[in-house]
Formats: sequence, structure tokens, C-alpha cells
Amino acid sequence: CGIVGYIGTKEPQDIIINGLKKLEYRGYDSAGIAVVNHGKIELRKHVGAISNLEKLIGEERLGGHVGIGHTRWATHGAPSDLNSHPHMDMDGTIAVVHNGTVENYVELKAELEKEGVVFRTETDTEVATMLISKYYHRNHDLKKALDQAISEMRGTYAIAVVAKDQPDQFVAYRKNAPLIVGLGNNCNFVASDFSALLAYTKDVYLLENGDTVVLTKDAVNIYDEEDRLIERPMMHVDWDVSAAEKGGYDHFMLKEIYEQPTAIRETLSRNLDDNGRVHLQETVQLTKEDFEKINKIVIVACGTAYHAGLVGRYVIEKLARIPVEVDIASEFRYRDPFVDEHTLFIAISQSGETADTLEAMREAKRKGARVLSVVNVVGSTVARESDDVFYTQAGPEIAVASTKAYTTQLVCMYLLALFFADLNVAISAEEYDNFVQDLEAISGKLEDVLKMAPEIEALANRLYDRDQVFYIGRGVDSSVAYEGSLKLKEISYINSFAIAAGELKHGTIALMEPRTIVWALATQERLFDKMVSNIQEVKARNAHIISLAQEGNSEIEAHSDEVFYIPRTKDELTPLLSVVPLQLYAYYVAKAKGCEIDKPRNLAKSVTVE
Ligand code: G6P
Repeated sequence: CGIVGYIGTKEPQDIIINGLKKLEYRGYDSAGIAVVNHGKIELRKHVGAISNLEKLIGEERLGGHVGIGHTRWATHGAPSDLNSHPHMDMDGTIAVVHNGTVENYVELKAELEKEGVVFRTETDTEVATMLISKYYHRNHDLKKALDQAISEMRGTYAIAVVAKDQPDQFVAYRKNAPLIVGLGNNCNFVASDFSALLAYTKDVYLLENGDTVVLTKDAVNIYDEEDRLIERPMMHVDWDVSAAEKGGYDHFMLKEIYEQPTAIRETLSRNLDDNGRVHLQETVQLTKEDFEKINKIVIVACGTAYHAGLVGRYVIEKLARIPVEVDIASEFRYRDPFVDEHTLFIAISQSGETADTLEAMREAKRKGARVLSVVNVVGSTVARESDDVFYTQAGPEIAVASTKAYTTQLVCMYLLALFFADLNVAISAEEYDNFVQDLEAISGKLEDVLKMAPEIEALANRLYDRDQVFYIGRGVDSSVAYEGSLKLKEISYINSFAIAAGELKHGTIALMEPRTIVWALATQERLFDKMVSNIQEVKARNAHIISLAQEGNSEIEAHSDEVFYIPRTKDELTPLLSVVPLQLYAYYVAKAKGCEIDKPRNLAKSVTVE
């Protein structure tokens, strides 16, 4: 979910709605706004995207100078007008927006019901609202009422509250869910992340967990868990406003696909010195002595970031000769993993707010591991809780389906592999230099791959109505297969499946039919012949084969219905190139099917619940 709050000399309506649009990637099941105007709360909310809320409001002006807004990814209670935020108490005194979950809401609700409170919804947010309202009616102090309520609420959440008789202030609180404070001229803001505020301010305070903040138009007072008035360091965000705009592309996803060469160059240039040696940003403090204590690496992430971790395992083991495990964050935490002070734990997360990843990381910390995170969003919770932070330089990624975050995460994996290889004295100087040179040449080659877009679009227009698509590959190609398959299912809703090509014959090949599409990734020179036999196995079942190979391997044409070639590079580096045709294919198939590409159904970009 996404939250925006504003107080200042202007009317909040447009500022909040524009902010919510920038946060829509966090959820778009419903949206709403509450503004305090002349002793009354003007509340408007609607199921579906923010455009529905805009239609509902039409030409109406809600007035006032303080307001809060919300865009929702449903957790408790189905998406509906009623369940949308903001929520109001029974007599319309306060309105609340909330991101996260109140774990003990059932008990709290039962107690409030005993006291005569009548609930209209099944949501935990309404319980939080009624609880704050109960205390506010007693003391008419918004901060105190919020403090009292949160002392009873268990869970992880960010929350913001306005009251009808408080036109000059509003309050917010953060506990394990993202919330920042933006500082403007004669105005102040809260938001779930920077993108909502870039058009208004680039100066922000990053709140800590347990912080309560009271905002007026000229002041921001932050109180810590012990209720002490404190200062938090101010940060200046250097993301450009235009980075969060579509800039002529039909969709953010397409724009972000095309931004990959630049994002990769940027990530490399920040972490390579003039002599082509890996020189990690100063936010990575890990030294040779630290590394000597490490006997294994554990990489943990979710979704696309997990797929980057799969490539990471392969390349770190190969180059640095140190054992690497990879796990899905939601699984790692509950299997009592073997992690101790000799483990280097690597968390990969675009947003740096994914609850599963955060909890896995905390578990590793408790067990004594050193935590290095690969994160895109500066100052995010994962970044703040890590010992070392390696920032991907992807810039804001808005489309729910991740593209440039993935490729920059891969670049970080390669750079870390080289860095560890050096510390472990695992490769020769010549191999090292050679690897760096090939890495530096990748962006140019990726630009050539992007030129295939029209051909891939034509292919997608021919095949978009097929309802079963497989992705197969060996070695790092199998990791890319997972990512390609995820892209397609996320945005086109086609049932797709990825599997290591060698495993196909052990069961999954039973599903092959003449209308089945198989993307066969055959970019690994070392495994090419083996891969060709796997392709022949599926071809024999009459599936439609689309192969991907390095330039020059034209013998694959004899066994494929279509072939796309990527420029030649090292086997380890092909994921940076081979994923791009798969991203484009998913994009054009979804477009041909008329899907909502940037905001696919049921998904959110940043999932802050476990
Ligand atoms: C969500 C998104 C995915 C993303 C995953 C991990 O499920 O829909 O696209 O890969 O979260 O997100 P993170 O921000 O931790 O990389």
C-alpha cells in the first residue's frame, strides 16, 4: 500500500492525488483521500485504480490545507469501496490511512465492540481507527491518542491520522513499514517513498521504527519510542523528477527495459576504478580480514531479486570458489538455517522494503551473520539494517514487473564475485581483467539486443493467444528461464513454467503439445550440445521452439521454429543479454492481449506484508 499526507498553504487534493499516482505501483486495488475542511472531514474513496477516484471526485474541490491519501493492496478484506482507505470513525471525527497489518485486530475489535463500537468492515485498519478515535475523544490530543492506540496494536505498519477539529496538524507513525517525511516551503509531507514527493521536495527525513511525527505547515516534530523529541538526519534525494515519468514511452515497463544499458553503465562506473579494479561504494565496508572469517555465503531474496541471486550463486562460486546457497526469503526464515558468524548473508531487494526479505535478514543477524544488501532504494529499511549496502544504480523502477532492477542486481553479483575472487585469490590477474573488460562491453551489446524489439513484437503478435509457455535452459540459462517465465505470467496472465532443461524429461515433458511454446535458452557454449538434445526432445513432441543462442551457433536453426541471436560474450555474462528478449516478449504479448502492463492484477511492486 502507499500513503501520502500533506499540510501547508495549498489545497491538499491535487498534491495527494499526484503523490498517490506515483505510489500506485505499491498497490492499486482501491484509492482514497480525506481532507479537513471547515471542521469536517471530506472523504472520497473508490475501488480500483486512482483514475476511478479521480472520476468520483470530478470537478469537485475538497478545499482545506491538510489531508491524507492511500492506494491499497488488499490484505484484510476484499478490494471494495467500503474497505478502501481512509477509514473514518463512527462520528466522522478522525480519518486514518494505514499500510501493513495489525496482528491482534481480532482481540482489539472484540473489546471495542463490547464498548459499543459498531464496525462497518472486516479490516484491521478500521479497528486501528476506532481505537485511536476512542482515545482522541477522551483527550483531544492527536499525538497522545495515536501513542495510546499504538501501545495496544501489535504488527508492522505505517499510519497517518487527521482530525476534523485539527486543521493545523496531522500525525503519523512508523513501525517496520516504510514512511518518510518530506520538507517543503510552508508545507510538509509524509509518504511511503520518495517518488510521491519528488515533484515537491527532495529533502527528507528517514523515520526510524517507533517514531511518531507531528506535522504542521512550518514544523516537523519527531518523537522516538521513549517519547523524546529527537532529530533525524536530513537526506537530499538526487533522483530526477523525470525519472518517475513515462517520457514518451507507452508504459513504464518499456521505458525501463530501454534504460538498462544506462543503468548497467552507471552501476559499473560507480564501482570500478580507473584501472578497471572493483572498488565498491563506501557503503560496503567489508575488508579482507572480514572476508577471511567467512566460510559460506547465503543469498536470500524474493521474486525477480531471487532470480538474480540464482545467477549470483553460479558466478560467485565459479569465480571466487566459496560455497554459496540461495533461498527464497519466506522459506529461509522458517527452516532454522545453518547460519553463524562465519556466514556472509546477502539480501537482494529492489525496494529494500519487502517484509519477507527483511525478516529473513533479521533472522540471519540474530544468528550472527554479517549482512550485505544489494538494494536500489537509498535509505530503505533493508539498507538501513545491513552492515554493508551495495546500491544498484537503476534509478526509480515504477513498473511492477522488474527489469532494470534485475539487470543491475546481476551487475552487482558479477562485481561481488570479482571482489570476492580477489580477496580469495581465486583467479589470475589476466582472468580478472578479461572479465571486467567483457562486463564493460555489455551495455553496448545490450543496445544491439534492444534492436530486436520489432521482430519480437511481430512474434508476440503471432503467438500471444497460446495458453502454455515453457522456458528451459542449462547453467545460468536456467536462472534466466525462471525470470523470463515470471515476466510473462506477471503481466500477460499466461500459464508459464520454467525448468532446467535436463530435468524436463523427468516429468514435465508430459505437458508438451503442438500448441505449446518453448523458449529454449542455449547461450552456454559449454552446454550447447546438451541443450540441443533437449531441444530435440521437445521438438519431437511438436512444441513450437523459440531458441536463443550466441551469434554464430546457427546449427540450432535446424531444430527451432525461430531463433534469436545475442552478441557473443562470456557464458557467465549472457544473462544480461538473454533476459532482454524475454522481457520484450512478455511486454509485447501483454500488449497484444490488452493487459494493464504497468499494474498487473493482484500484484504490488513492494510487498510489505509477510
Ligand atoms: C514483489 C514484486 C516483484 C519483486 C518482489 C521482490 O513480489 O511484484 O516484482 O521481484 O516483490 O521485491 P524487492 O523490492 O524485494 O526486490
